[in-house]
Amino acid sequence: MSKLFTNVNFSVLARGITICLFLYYSFLMVIITLQYVPIDFTAAFLATKQHIIHLRHYQIAFFSHVYSSIFILILGAPQFMDSFRVRFPFIHRFFGMVYVVCILCVSAPSGLIMGIYGYGGIISQISFVILSILWFYFTLQAFNFIKKRMVVKHKKYMILSYSLTLSAITLRLSKQLLSMFTEIHRYEIYQIASWIGWLINLLIAFVIVQRIEKKYSLTQKAH
Ligand code: HEM
Repeated sequence: MSKLFTNVNFSVLARGITICLFLYYSFLMVIITLQYVPIDFTAAFLATKQHIIHLRHYQIAFFSHVYSSIFILILGAPQFMDSFRVRFPFIHRFFGMVYVVCILCVSAPSGLIMGIYGYGGIISQISFVILSILWFYFTLQAFNFIKKRMVVKHKKYMILSYSLTLSAITLRLSKQLLSMFTEIHRYEIYQIASWIGWLINLLIAFVIVQRIEKKYSLTQKAH
């Protein structure tokens, strides 16, 4: 009984901490995004991009990416809450459409263009390009499966897609941790963070997806 109580408490605590961290870092992402309103070619991170900011396609990619990605990050989170999906299925569908359209038409293609010019040289550039392509692919798969009413596969690809969306947070967090706890130079920190910022998320997402598939195949066998 006491073991059960400890387990329940632990999962409630873990869930609570995860939600608080998510809210805190999403709030930080909103603040970061607001630095680019109104459009200013010298704002914040763009100060480091003065050698390419005159390129029309970079300007379009940058601002469309920044303005669309924040909605993707925020609208994606409640989609995984069972209570939200059951109580508000229409909102779930609407948020889902916005999420998919924003990623496929705006955020992933613009992330890819910006990735080609990413800070950190070829090492980070390759990472950003792979990240954009995977983000696009997982989201497209999730959309294709729900069109065919294949809910478990839809869920699987949405978990993979959102794990990459969360890289906006984990990339900045790993940069912060690396600069706090190591002596590595800023340039190399950026290169390392550009990879671990999404690879760790993807690994965790694969574990979650495997568990779901296992649970699903067990219930299928039981019927
Ligand atoms: C997961 C796919 C994503 C990819 C591939 C991607 C790619 C990029 C790239 C390449 C840059 C420029 C970095 C550089 O030049 O070194 C960038 C900047 C930026 N991205 Fe993303 N991004 C993604 C997701 C997101 C999300 C979900 C947000 C949500 C808010 C976001 C917000 C931003 C912001 C605000 C910047 C400007 C830099 C700053 O001020 O920190 N990105 N992104």
